[in-house]
Amino acid sequence: MCGIFAYINHLTPKTRREILELLVNGLKRLEYRGYDSAGVAIDAADQKDIAVLKRSGKVAALEELLQERSVELSVEESVDSHCGIAHTRWATHGEPNALNSHPQRSGEDNAFVVIHNGIITNYKEVKTFLENKGYIFESQTDTEAIAKLVHHIYHQHKDYSFQELVEQVILQLEGAFALCFKSLYFPNECVATRRGSPLLVGIKTRRRLSSDHVPIMYTNNKATRGVVPSVPRVNSHAHFEPEEERDVEYFFASDASAVIEHTNRVLYFEDDDVAHIKDGVLSIHRMSGSSNDPHEREIFTLKLELQQIMKGNYDYFMQKEIFEQPESIVNTMRGRLNFADGTVTLGGIKDYIPEIKRCRRLMLIGCGTSYHSAVATRQLLEELTELPVMVELASDFLDRNTPVFRDDVCFFISQSGETADTLMALRYCKRHGALIVGITNTVGSSICRESHCGVHINAGPEIGVASTKAYTSQFVSLVMFALVISEDRISLQKRRADIIEGLHHLDTKIRQVLALDNEVKALAEDLYRQRSLLIMGRGYNFATCLEGALKVKELTYMHSEGIMAGELKHGPLALIDDSMPVMMIVMRDPVYTKCMNALQQVTARQGRPIVVCEEGDAETMSLASKSLQVPKTVDCLQGVLSVIPMQLLAYHIAVLRGCNVDCPRNLAKSVTVE
Ligand code: F6R
Repeated sequence: MCGIFAYINHLTPKTRREILELLVNGLKRLEYRGYDSAGVAIDAADQKDIAVLKRSGKVAALEELLQERSVELSVEESVDSHCGIAHTRWATHGEPNALNSHPQRSGEDNAFVVIHNGIITNYKEVKTFLENKGYIFESQTDTEAIAKLVHHIYHQHKDYSFQELVEQVILQLEGAFALCFKSLYFPNECVATRRGSPLLVGIKTRRRLSSDHVPIMYTNNKATRGVVPSVPRVNSHAHFEPEEERDVEYFFASDASAVIEHTNRVLYFEDDDVAHIKDGVLSIHRMSGSSNDPHEREIFTLKLELQQIMKGNYDYFMQKEIFEQPESIVNTMRGRLNFADGTVTLGGIKDYIPEIKRCRRLMLIGCGTSYHSAVATRQLLEELTELPVMVELASDFLDRNTPVFRDDVCFFISQSGETADTLMALRYCKRHGALIVGITNTVGSSICRESHCGVHINAGPEIGVASTKAYTSQFVSLVMFALVISEDRISLQKRRADIIEGLHHLDTKIRQVLALDNEVKALAEDLYRQRSLLIMGRGYNFATCLEGALKVKELTYMHSEGIMAGELKHGPLALIDDSMPVMMIVMRDPVYTKCMNALQQVTARQGRPIVVCEEGDAETMSLASKSLQVPKTVDCLQGVLSVIPMQLLAYHIAVLRGCNVDCPRNLAKSVTVE
């Protein structure tokens, strides 16, 4: 959902080529967030202008443009201090062409340029105001209104600092944003701020940082909303100076993967933080605050390793992430599940267990794949917690104004931790007094920070836009939660022990499923020219049908539908004939007989189902045109194994159809708009 990246060096000489390489590299790491178009802004060679370069398409297209313009940009020239900003876009307002790309500018003089991740909901109002003042808009973006607004305020208040100007700008904005500004009037300075969209700063110094905290400065007047701001602020002097001589580099970014190759020291911003970098000093202001608000932001040390965000020997990140699942699920369980004594500890929620056990019901809320992990584990949660469990798509949950009560426990499941629908649903439930549990893969994300407690799924960075390893780790996290809640239920001890044993061997079984890769590829060769693929199942494996169909749709652009086998005779059976590709998940679990009935109904209509079944299940395979055999595990964990052939199938079909596996069209990894 757009990636923003800015690089500011102070007394650290760099050639323009190095700066451009840094910016482009940062964008490549963020490309999974959007890849409709990309752009950069750096100082022009004469320092009297800002050079803005943009191109539609992927970051590689921008890189070519920069090469074509390298002479004009004097790329070999060295600069001691400089601010450059860069953006990769997932279009919301206006088609993905160069004009609508970011940076957006205040006017032909490029006096102010801005990059933005999010959506400004009142941009039409701001735009009309500015058009009445004589501004001429060149793009269809909401962001252009921000660039022109800062310019307008500057001309009203030339005494304002860059940071003060941006504070006045964000007072006028409604919606979600992470923004970075650069200006001709404030050379080598950068101002960044966020509300609702993620933003962090990476800090690189030659010597150790002298402090682990950055003080926050609260402005001591109440700025007012209204398009022309009037009240000047009074400055205080809290700021962060990392070194005496201040040779320091800063990196603003949408997420940590863009900065990790430079530094592991990062600070995550909160909504309405306005960060200013000037002369190597980082200061953070807030518009207002109460005495209870924190007065510092912590600088964290990232645990992320660079190799985790590299493709290694794989062709695509998605492929790498599928094959990482034996390790990623072990990382999810590491330090939590003790296989020797059968104990399960989830440190992030342990203080809340008594409250959770007393709750009225559990609500599991998410979008897309994260929602499917809730569908996959609902039955087990019902069984082990003996509580009513509601599973909700975040957008629909909000549309319905679903009743939520103080004694509800609401789980928000999100790989990125930034999905706008999920975050809005979280805030809604929080307002209604429910206990909020975050299940995320991104430390420091909004969902993480706004939850009362939670579980990090620890799957490691997921870069491929289509979610794979996050799904299986979400699945395992929710299973562990069910085990924690049922710890003292005598009647459930045998069941719990079987599940724990199943989890113990799950990585080995995932490896066995991954060994089917060539078989799945052969199947993909049979299917890739088809227009449609139906995937049917029920019980514990219904979620696999939904998730498999989502993977096929998003990666291959083929129609695919996950069908609850119990619903077959209520409509979908009409689709079946000898030409409709059908897959069925049939496992030897409590719904086996019912699945076999469905299988027979399909074959009776000349359907030629491809079956995913348990190893050695000759009876089931006798009804199939083709079959994939996966190892058997405990019924409630079987979905972890049955989903992997679906992930591989979607992957291979996408490759055969010539689709971009890691960056499917029209999608983005982190959907920070509603
Ligand atoms: C599908 C996919 C999406 C996400 C959904 C929620 O492969 O990746 O459906 O699952 O956008 O994203 P998160 O989990 O980040 O909240």
